[in-house]
Amino acid sequence: CVSCRVWRLMLSIFLLTIHLWQKNPNCSDQTYCSKRKNRQSTKLTMMEIPSIFTPVDWSFAFYEGLNQHQDSTSRDKTYAELGCGNGWISIALAEKLSPLKVYGLDINPRAIKIAWINLYLNALDDNGLPVYDREGKTLLDRVEFHESDLLSYCIDNKIELDCIVGCIPQILNPNPEAISKIMTENSSEKFLYSLSNYCALQGFFEDQFGLGLIARAVEEGRAVIKPMGIMIFNIGGRPGQGVCERLFLRRGFHISKLWQTKIMQ
Ligand SMILES: C[S@@+](CC[C@H](N)C(=O)[O-])C[C@H]1O[C@@H](n2cnc3c(N)ncnc32)[C@H](O)[C@@H]1O
Repeated sequence: CVSCRVWRLMLSIFLLTIHLWQKNPNCSDQTYCSKRKNRQSTKLTMMEIPSIFTPVDWSFAFYEGLNQHQDSTSRDKTYAELGCGNGWISIALAEKLSPLKVYGLDINPRAIKIAWINLYLNALDDNGLPVYDREGKTLLDRVEFHESDLLSYCIDNKIELDCIVGCIPQILNPNPEAISKIMTENSSEKFLYSLSNYCALQGFFEDQFGLGLIARAVEEGRAVIKPMGIMIFNIGGRPGQGVCERLFLRRGFHISKLWQTKIMQ
């Protein structure tokens, strides 16, 4: 039918956009590009290891969605990114918005180590000297990474946040026993990588829809978010729009949809 064709066309245009973005000729395979406000392209150099999540369309769509949120007053703001993985989104946000601080948080200890390495790779020039921005600050002033189960680092350290963003798992682990393993630096690569895709039951109503981890993040966020603060999450549409919206409404948040797209999975 005509509407199906129109939708397919829109879908292919969107994927083409992502494709071009990933294939920017200035970027190598292990490099992601973020656009600065002044439209210049900034190249991020990122290290990867098998036990942490490698960004895919799902996370590129999340960053694209984050960019829909126009915040003209980001300079004095404090952000937290939940599930920061290799750190690319926290670093790209700091490059783009020049916030006071971005706390990149992840439960995977190896992700945090790689994220710190990636921060230094992008904060220093080829001679190992810090790259200063217009305010005389470097990325090292603006970004920190910490091992943290959701917002526990910010709660423990009484850090108040203006904005919490997150692209965290929304699928219950098919093997519940795996989740009960104690997580250490020496946990197997396979187990650490599984944290990128799977979550455990969190004891919330939303568990039945795979949204339990996001529900806990929102609950924890209430303890550290400033008045008028915002939270931005990547949410898979499978549970239906009503369920996704109620997750926030029943916890006292106003919601607005920033970005919607289809991801091939
Ligand atoms: C889909 S990956 C996204 C990684 C990164 N934001 C990106 O887009 O490349 C989800 C991340 O959430 C992390 N994660 C899972 N459970 C978590 C928790 N309870 N607290 C913090 N991070 C968690 C995983 O280790 C993984 O790095």
